Amino acid sequence: MITTAILNEKGGTGKTTTAITLASGLAYKGYSVLLIDLDPQANATEYLGIRQQPGLFNVLGADQPITDHVIATGTPRLRLLPNERRTGKRVKAILTAETGKPAIAQVLAPLRNRIDFVILDCPPSPGIINDAALWAAQWVLSPFIPEHGPVSGLRSLSQAIIQAQDDGRPVQLLGVIPTLLDVRKGEHKANLARVHRAYGNLVYPTVRNRAIIAELPATGSTLWALRPTQPHKQRARAIAVQEYGAVLGRFLTDVRG
Ligand SMILES: Nc1ncnc2c1ncn2[C@@H]1O[C@H](COP(=O)(O)OP(=O)(O)O)[C@@H](O)[C@H]1O
Ligand SMILES: [Mg+2]
Repeated sequence: MITTAILNEKGGTGKTTTAITLASGLAYKGYSVLLIDLDPQANATEYLGIRQQPGLFNVLGADQPITDHVIATGTPRLRLLPNERRTGKRVKAILTAETGKPAIAQVLAPLRNRIDFVILDCPPSPGIINDAALWAAQWVLSPFIPEHGPVSGLRSLSQAIIQAQDDGRPVQLLGVIPTLLDVRKGEHKANLARVHRAYGNLVYPTVRNRAIIAELPATGSTLWALRPTQPHKQRARAIAVQEYGAVLGRFLTDVRG
């Protein structure tokens, strides 16, 4: 079981989109995959077209077995531990007051020989949920938008990983994924070049800002399963599949060593 946190402590950088696309892509490749919606906003649950429900809360807050709350999705071999806004917020309080950082690692332990990949879709704010994700994960992948000075969230990400390593955890940064790249913006190109200089070969293939990707949540479909009827959308999908396909291929190469 390889556990990867999709984490950037900034909102709107493509975390949930990447978590779902990676998780479903791995499932289509034949692996058994568990996606855990750790964000109290429950976006991953909703993007997959699944009703919000207190799976995460029941497992972390009410001490129920994870196998009772993991549900099937529209993608074969991809299962989800769903979240819900109402109880999602309470999860944070429970982790803070009771179970603490080891909580997610503990609930995943019984699945070790049953699941190939666990993907953690993390919330955008620093705190106990992300601390617990970093406790459970071997790898962190961080989608970022190549804009602004200290490129969107990457600095605080490094600090959070160092903190987890100081706690004795084996977690490492696997890569940073430039997302929502707008090639017409000089700022994006300049910042991407800076990130390449700072992160070298940890920089993953780029995913551009594409309408077909922005429309996915409304369809409830994954990128891989999307079957647009209009030719221009079919072309757009093919390009997006190539881009996220490159991310998926790089991920598999990296984690399989
Ligand atoms: N490559 C992309 N091109 C266009 N829109 C995107 C892309 N990636 C994500 N989005 C959209 O941007 C918004 C934020 O993405 P999301 O994956 O929810 O980010 P996060 O989980 O980091 O908050 C969503 O509306 C999503 O559909
Ligand atoms: Mg999200």
